Amino acid sequence: MSSIAPEQVITSPRLRPQETNTFVIFGASGDLTRRKLIPALYNLAVAKLLPEGFHVVGIAVTPMKDESFREEMCQAVKESKEATAFNEEVWRDFALGMHYITAEFDAPEGYEKLHALLSEIETEHENPDNRLFYLAIPPSFCGTVISRLGQHGFVSPQAHRGKGWTRIIVEKPFGRDLASAQKLNAEIHTVFDEEQIYRIDHYLGKETVQNLMAFRFANSIIEPIWNRRYVDHVQITAAETLGVEHRGRYYEEAGCLRDMFQNHLLQLLAIIAMDPPVRYGGSSVRDRKSDVLRAVIPINPENLGEMAVRGQYGAGIVDGHRLPSYRDEEGVNPKSNVETFVALKLFVDNWRWAEVPFYIRSGKRLHTKVTEIVIQFKRVPHMFFQLSSEDQMEPNLLIIRIAPDEGISLKFGAKVPGPAMRLRPVQMNFSYAETFQVQPATAYETLLLDAMEGDPTLFNRSDAVEHAWELLEPLIDIWAATKPFHPFPNYASGSWGPTTSDLLLERDGRAWRNPPASPLQSRVGVEPSGIVP
Ligand SMILES: NC(=O)c1ccc[n+]([C@@H]2O[C@H](COP(=O)([O-])OP(=O)(O)OC[C@H]3O[C@@H](n4cnc5c(N)ncnc54)[C@H](OP(=O)(O)O)[C@@H]3O)[C@@H](O)[C@H]2O)c1
Repeated sequence: MSSIAPEQVITSPRLRPQETNTFVIFGASGDLTRRKLIPALYNLAVAKLLPEGFHVVGIAVTPMKDESFREEMCQAVKESKEATAFNEEVWRDFALGMHYITAEFDAPEGYEKLHALLSEIETEHENPDNRLFYLAIPPSFCGTVISRLGQHGFVSPQAHRGKGWTRIIVEKPFGRDLASAQKLNAEIHTVFDEEQIYRIDHYLGKETVQNLMAFRFANSIIEPIWNRRYVDHVQITAAETLGVEHRGRYYEEAGCLRDMFQNHLLQLLAIIAMDPPVRYGGSSVRDRKSDVLRAVIPINPENLGEMAVRGQYGAGIVDGHRLPSYRDEEGVNPKSNVETFVALKLFVDNWRWAEVPFYIRSGKRLHTKVTEIVIQFKRVPHMFFQLSSEDQMEPNLLIIRIAPDEGISLKFGAKVPGPAMRLRPVQMNFSYAETFQVQPATAYETLLLDAMEGDPTLFNRSDAVEHAWELLEPLIDIWAATKPFHPFPNYASGSWGPTTSDLLLERDGRAWRNPPASPLQSRVGVEPSGIVP
């Protein structure tokens, strides 16, 4: 089947925010600022989507002057794979609005300097006192910075000191369990109202994740079949080919459940399973997503083996290279039982989805880098064609590719040309890149602009964050307290995870769809025949 023809090239209809603001980054010398935030802001500047008079104030402990901060960030943009081609003129204008304060988060001097600098910027440029604070800092400092912002008078209830607004963006991870997430929510709520808080999960800013909502709710053919009558089961896969790389120390504290499931994957589940909201925006979308998380049947410790699988990668040979096991990575305990792979079977216990399994898996050092959602539909009730053993009839599959090669495919049965009635599955493809011929905005561009415009739709609300922790906490606790039944490592680098992950579906008469590597990926073949000793 041929792809849908590109009908027209669509450029972003987004307009620049009408009101300007000052964007204050706590942690401005860190990795996130350098790799994501400044490149995203620069891209917005290139696209003329930043408001007139926009300024950035960076704060961190590394001593820097405005000029050296601008130079550092210029280098970051030039090195970034996500930034659009470097444009000297755009950068010069953008950089003129960049400032830096050297300060310890706990010390009052930094906040006093910030007060003075914000007033100076707002007075000199006749800007309203709209301020967007971004916490690009280790989670352990969030409470400190938030309470200092409160103590130093940056936030009054409803934030209307003058005519301006105050908002805060908080990075993931949001807590490391239910109790710490509740504590952080309580700390933020003593200073900020919920409407001012933007808990960011960059997955939700991805173009294809938003397209999931467009696909479901802007097409009348989808909604009638999006339920337990027609859907056999749903698979969500978020697979990485990379290992933990230089993040071993962080990963030892996090593990796959915290790193991927608590935020990204449960959010994807919520978008796939949610009921139609009354409108896009405000609390409508977030209410419907919360309903889904509330409806997920809690994981029962009694039958954990049938609902959850954990794994850890061993060594393996990928593209002819021998790769180390997780336990041999830098910063990792050589006896670590931290999981680098998780597969779960969950049920959303409501009218629409009762008894439909949602199989969700994620892992590092897997065979293919891919994030996709597969909706497998039920077989036809009666197959009246006289099929031979050569006919391959598969159930209809709807494959929504989040990354890479963003797009949607539908697999269905077709007649093989010829005099006999022979059937074969074929595929109809929609490719984002081919159809629209534009590079989609990065997730951070979308989300930063949303926060500037006061649109919280794609950000997490406190109840959703807490529901997600509530759901995973029993599993986190049991896995922390017990050794894995099959000793780690239990899957080879370059494989599709432990065999118990396949069994999770085989027991139900189903199988994972293991997609081939994209042609864009360098790795073509692997030889992972078990754990390499
Ligand atoms: N990096 C990513 O790709 C990524 C992705 C998703 C989420 N996140 C989240 O984003 C947050 C930041 O991550 P990151 O990777 O950017 O961390 P990072 O590289 O360690 O940066 C931390 C920043 O905080 C500053 N800092 C730390 N302690 C300070 C103190 N006492 N006083 C003043 N400044 C202090 C550091 O300043 P100095 O450098 O000057 O010491 C640095 O600017 C974390 O919550 C992380 O989980 C990061």
